[in-house]
Amino acid sequence: MTSLNFNFGGTDTRVFIQDELPSLSDILPIMGRDKRYHVICDENTKPYADEIGASVPICLSGSGEKEKNWDSIKKILKAACAAELGRDDIFIGIGGGVVSDICAFAASIYMRGARLALVSTTLLGMADAALGGKTGIDLFGIKNLAGTFYPARAVWMPLSTLKTLPPSQFKSGLAEIIKSVILDETIDENTAFEELSKGNAAVRLEKIVLAAVKLKGRIVEADPRETGTERAKLNLGHTFGHALEAAAGLGKITHGEAVAWGIVRACELGLALGITPPERAHAITHLLQNLGYETGAPHPALLSGGSGQPLARKFLNALNSDKKRIAGSLRFIIPAQKGAVIVPVSAEKMPLVQEIALGSLTEFLRI
Ligand code: GLY
Repeated sequence: MTSLNFNFGGTDTRVFIQDELPSLSDILPIMGRDKRYHVICDENTKPYADEIGASVPICLSGSGEKEKNWDSIKKILKAACAAELGRDDIFIGIGGGVVSDICAFAASIYMRGARLALVSTTLLGMADAALGGKTGIDLFGIKNLAGTFYPARAVWMPLSTLKTLPPSQFKSGLAEIIKSVILDETIDENTAFEELSKGNAAVRLEKIVLAAVKLKGRIVEADPRETGTERAKLNLGHTFGHALEAAAGLGKITHGEAVAWGIVRACELGLALGITPPERAHAITHLLQNLGYETGAPHPALLSGGSGQPLARKFLNALNSDKKRIAGSLRFIIPAQKGAVIVPVSAEKMPLVQEIALGSLTEFLRI
């Protein structure tokens, strides 16, 4: 077991990367032994909730992005209220990024903030969502429109749960791992890419999860609320990716698929702006292609069921409403010589962005 401690804007977070699921007798002492708790899971992670010893877990209606809504939050808050939980009692979320986001959001608003523990059971959750305090639900078709910053006090990452992850979910998480490798200036990128290109079976899970957690921990400690320039870099691939997810219909493609596609778009933008060295852009694109991610523009999800025209417009609207917009300019995270840099892109450069993201669909935007 590896244990790490972080402090995110005043909240201490302990992270445990271990082989097996923790039990309630591991979790409760860390969170305050005599406190009462409730466990939140989804239909996929209900067996884990049973395994850790939760008596009556609160199970979301289904699983996946569509659960990130007010109904899920109300269900969790209602159950907490019925169980007469107080602010010192514990919300334990068991699941991937969706469960983490929902459970953490509910914990953050219950009586102005209950104690939060997360057991992250997907690669995406371990590499990104469970750590660093971003919580949220989707509203009005916009991803994470409502949310808070509320770091968990403790996060468990039981690697055994990754062995039974559906391949699409593993691939989704791997995109966040690749993002992390691109951002991490302390590791040898070529060697890491070589290891990752060998595919799931050869990937040393503990090593890649630990590296991603260390990088994310460092970044969020430096900029817990994304007010500076550090944390925003974790959004590499997300400006394009979130717009794709929204245009395709939230939950239609996995988050990691969208991020991988967005990373390639960021490389192309970086190439056009003279920021990303061509050999680096090529290496990143080649790795993602080899691992089976969609790297072309327009993304096929924008072409499904028609000419693509309405989806191209939807994509553009989503891109323009990106939360990371500052003073009228969109901010893109672009791979540079090393790591990545934040580049504001003003309205005059938007045709270039559109061309890179939408390829042949760009012509519809002129109509
Ligand atoms: N997922 C990006 C962040 O936590 O900042």
